[in-house]
Amino acid sequence: MDEKDQEATFLYKADPERGRIWAQVFAQEAPEIDFRVWPDIGDPARVAYLAAWEPPDDIAERFPNLRVLFSTGAGIDQFDLDALPAEVPLVRMVEPGIIDGMIEYVVFSVLALHRDMPAYRRQQACEHWQPIQVRTAASRRVGVLGLGSLGQAVLARLKLFGFDCAGWARSPRTIEGVRTFSGTDGLASFLGGTDVLVCLLPLTDETRGMLCARLFDALPRGASLVHVGRGQHLRDVDLLAALDAGQIGEAFLDVTDPEPLPPGHALWRHPRVWLTPHIASMTQPESAARVVLDNLHRHRDGEPLLGLVDRGKGY
Ligand code: GLV
Repeated sequence: MDEKDQEATFLYKADPERGRIWAQVFAQEAPEIDFRVWPDIGDPARVAYLAAWEPPDDIAERFPNLRVLFSTGAGIDQFDLDALPAEVPLVRMVEPGIIDGMIEYVVFSVLALHRDMPAYRRQQACEHWQPIQVRTAASRRVGVLGLGSLGQAVLARLKLFGFDCAGWARSPRTIEGVRTFSGTDGLASFLGGTDVLVCLLPLTDETRGMLCARLFDALPRGASLVHVGRGQHLRDVDLLAALDAGQIGEAFLDVTDPEPLPPGHALWRHPRVWLTPHIASMTQPESAARVVLDNLHRHRDGEPLLGLVDRGKGY
């Protein structure tokens, strides 16, 4: 890094098992950095870089010389942006492991829905043998809410199967081979032409509760949901009503609010819900540490950081 880094501590505060792999990568690639795993923080005044999943409450007071804060996950909604000094850049995790994991989970879910796997599971449970007409991928419209690095990567892979792909984001985007929509005005047209809706939105004040009755009603009847955003995007009561009314056909949920759901919650046992415990994608420690080191070099060289969060937008 630079001379200043002889004095600098990089503090890691997330799963300690994965932290050991980060430590190995740092020892190999940047031995001049004093890499530490929480709670072994050393001298807090030396903590220049912090990578955290759940940050300490008092970051600003505790680490007065913090230069960059890294999220160890793709989301940054666990950070209180107001409690973070304005001059400290916040960087979300954009690393190949997270992207590949998300592609796998979403492609798996979309293919399962496309090929009617939930219906066949139900049929099997009652020893019923009933083929359902196979549709072409081109006739299935998949719409991704959120066109950040994950949304775009997922769409690029879905396109290879020949699905009719669309995407919606807050501001206009152009993506080859994808019908794109933006803003409040574009949302209704986007939803009206979506058979499988994938939620990959960041959680912000604007998107909290966005997966609600009004949005479900704007989808074609029987459309399905793949939710890999955050639990708080979803109004679960609205989803249960939409499922029971047949407005939503099936829902694959990797996130809930709270996590885990309380015992007996209706989503646990709903026959049209597939629930997974927030495992759609996980940061892979080796590639994550390398991406962070690359960003440290960028920071030293005054280059833009990859995954830098725009605090005004909240993602
Ligand atoms: C997981 O949800 C993440 O933000 O990486």
